[in-house]
Formats: sequence, C-alpha cells, structure tokens
Amino acid sequence: MVTISVIKADIGGMVGHSSSHPDILALGQRELDAAKQSGLLIDGHASHCGDDMFLIMTHERGEDNEQIHKLAWDTFIKGTDLAKKLKLYGAGQDLLTDAFSGNIRGAGPGSAEMEIDERPSEPIIVFMGDKTSAGGFNLALYKMFADPFNTPGLVIGEPLHDGFSFEIQDVKEHQKITLNAPEELYDLLVFIGAPSRYAIKRVRNRLTGEIAACSSTDKLSLIAGRYVGKDDPTMVVRCQGSFPAVGEVLEPFATAYTVEGWMRGSHNGPLMPVGLKDAHPARFDGPPRLVALGFQLADGKLNGPNDMFDDPSFNNARQEASNIADYLRKHGPFEPHRLPLDEMEYTTMPLIRDKLAGRWTALEEAREHAMAGPISEVE
Ligand code: 13P
Ligand code: 13P
Ligand code: MG
Ligand code: MG
Repeated sequence: MVTISVIKADIGGMVGHSSSHPDILALGQRELDAAKQSGLLIDGHASHCGDDMFLIMTHERGEDNEQIHKLAWDTFIKGTDLAKKLKLYGAGQDLLTDAFSGNIRGAGPGSAEMEIDERPSEPIIVFMGDKTSAGGFNLALYKMFADPFNTPGLVIGEPLHDGFSFEIQDVKEHQKITLNAPEELYDLLVFIGAPSRYAIKRVRNRLTGEIAACSSTDKLSLIAGRYVGKDDPTMVVRCQGSFPAVGEVLEPFATAYTVEGWMRGSHNGPLMPVGLKDAHPARFDGPPRLVALGFQLADGKLNGPNDMFDDPSFNNARQEASNIADYLRKHGPFEPHRLPLDEMEYTTMPLIRDKLAGRWTALEEAREHAMAGPISEVE
C-alpha cells in the first residue's frame, strides 16, 4: 500500500498574497529530499499556487501518520522563519498553533490523504487552489463522478457504471454523511450545493470500494473563530480504469465556475485554471486560481509533474474567468461579489456591528406593536 499525502499552507507571500518566493519552495523541496534520504518518504515534490506551498508526499505509513504530519509542520515552521527573514507578506499566515500536537488537522494547514493499492498504472492529479476555499471542489467533483455529460465513462465504462459514493462533511457541525450516486443525487445536491458549509471529503467507486478522490476540508475561520489565514484547498484524484479518465477529471474546469475566497477571503469570483507560470493571482488579488499537476506513480515514486492546465484548450476558460471577473468587480462591495452576511462573521463585520449597536432604533410600527404587547394578548 502507498499513501499519498498532500499537506499545504500559506507561510508567506511574495509580493503581498500574490505568489511564493523561490527560496521558500527550494527549502520545502530540500526538506522533502532529506525525508526521502532518511527513508521517511518514498518521494516528495514541493510546489505552489499563488502564496500557498503544497507538499506532495508518498510513503508507506498510512493516513494521519504523526511523523509525516510532523515533517510537514516542521517544514512550514522552517519556511516561516525564512519568510520572516525575507520579510514576506503574512509569514506563517496559516499556522494557527505554536506547537505541533501529533496531527496537522486543526492546526491550520490543509491536508488531503489517501492510502491506495497502487495499480499497474496509477495516474493521479493533484489540484492546488489559491484565493478559494474548502468546498470549492464540490461542483467539480460532482461533475467528474456523477454527471455523464462530463464523464461519459459513467455510461460507457463498465467499472464506473455502478456509480460513486460521496462522503460529505458538515464543516460547521463537524458531522459527516455518505450519499450514493446516482440514486441519491438530489439529496446529495441539497448539501454540496452549499459549499461554504458542506464539503465533499472523499469519493469512492461503489463497485470496487476503492478511494477515488480526497480533498482538504479544513476551514481556518471556523477553527480560529475569525478571519486569519485561509483554506486554499488541495485535492488528489485518481484517474483511468475504474475512475474517470484524465480528461474527464480536468473537464469540469473548462467552465470558470464561481467560488468564494477572492480579495481578503471575502469575495466570490471565477476559478481560473492555469499552468504554473500563471499561478500568481494579481488582479484584485485574484481571480481565484487552480493548478493541476499530473503524476504517474511507480511504486510510490512521483513521475512528473505534468502541468495539466498549461494547455491552450483551457484558454477559453481563462478568458471566461476574466470576463466574469470584470462583471463581478462592477458590484464593488455588494453581494453577490461580496460574500453573504453569515460568511462575513469572520471579518471585521462583527466589530462594526457592535460599534453601531447603540445607534439602531426601532422602527415606528415595531414600537407600536411593542407598546400594545403580543398580538394574542390584544385579542
Ligand atoms: P488512446 O487511444 O490515445 O490511448 O486514448 C484512449 C482514450 O480515448 C482516452 O480518453
Ligand atoms: P490568501 O488566503 O491566499 O493568503 O489570500 C488572502 C486574500 O484574500 C488576499 O486578498
Ligand atoms: Mg496569503
Ligand atoms: Mg493563498
């Protein structure tokens, strides 16, 4: 069995929140190389999207392994020290605790892990997002694993034909449920259509039980209770055979659908699929970006990466994203560009509300009702 662990954090941006510093990425790669030398990892690749660093690791220690999580945590701590020296923006932004306590979950960084029985050919795609958030992959995962207009394999590919199961997490109530496609599609959509609360954590092939996809669902604002760092997400998807083809996995991103997480983490914007060379969101700190790195695993070794969105066939999606960005920007501080009120709870919104609390006065009608008492008493 091989475990793929992707653990990521924003430990400092260059310039502002737009991208990463090459020395930080080099440090990340050095730490992974050392862990490979020591036998902790089979392989490791450090990459980035915008100001987030993604540590893509393979090993034989299973999910939630303390040593693997500590390797990631220590790498982020060392990276933060370097980011402070370089005076990068928001050094250590996503590290919410001072000390590592055995598991990276709840400490700020995002993680997506899957233990797999590596097939004779094991193509995987690692997605890396910036200026978006946990739940931002719901729509794409639905299309990949439940929509035959995206994935003809669901219709004509025998090992996919029994459908997939979706494990959904309620990120506010800390509960999970598994729903099956296709029978429970309408139930599924009730929840995953609200990605700020319900995020797809895992997808499995129902015929074989194999894990197909795993995404990071860590919500920093909910962990910290206020807007600190942000949960720019990652996701690992297995392709071909009993899973969607590589092209079926990439196809949902041919539409620049809307996600939350742009500018100050407080705006909705189109998700733009880009190659690494364009993974540095600048316009209004965005629009949100997504990179897809393809690997062929070979006994856990990460052959690759191939920069999957560095492909002119995604030019229209990029243009569409720019057009949507123009349109949404015209809303300025208005919804639906700005996030809905309950999501703004984690910004300075509560402070302003409290400051002005004493200046709100009751409407006349309400005062009359109040004087008259409850309606039942009047009658
Ligand atoms: P090849 O025939 O090039 O292997 O491609 C198979 C295919 O159609 C994948 O979608
Ligand atoms: P990050 O969450 O990527 O640091 O971006 C913060 C932001 O929204 C900047 O506008
Ligand atoms: Mg940042
Ligand atoms: Mg970021």
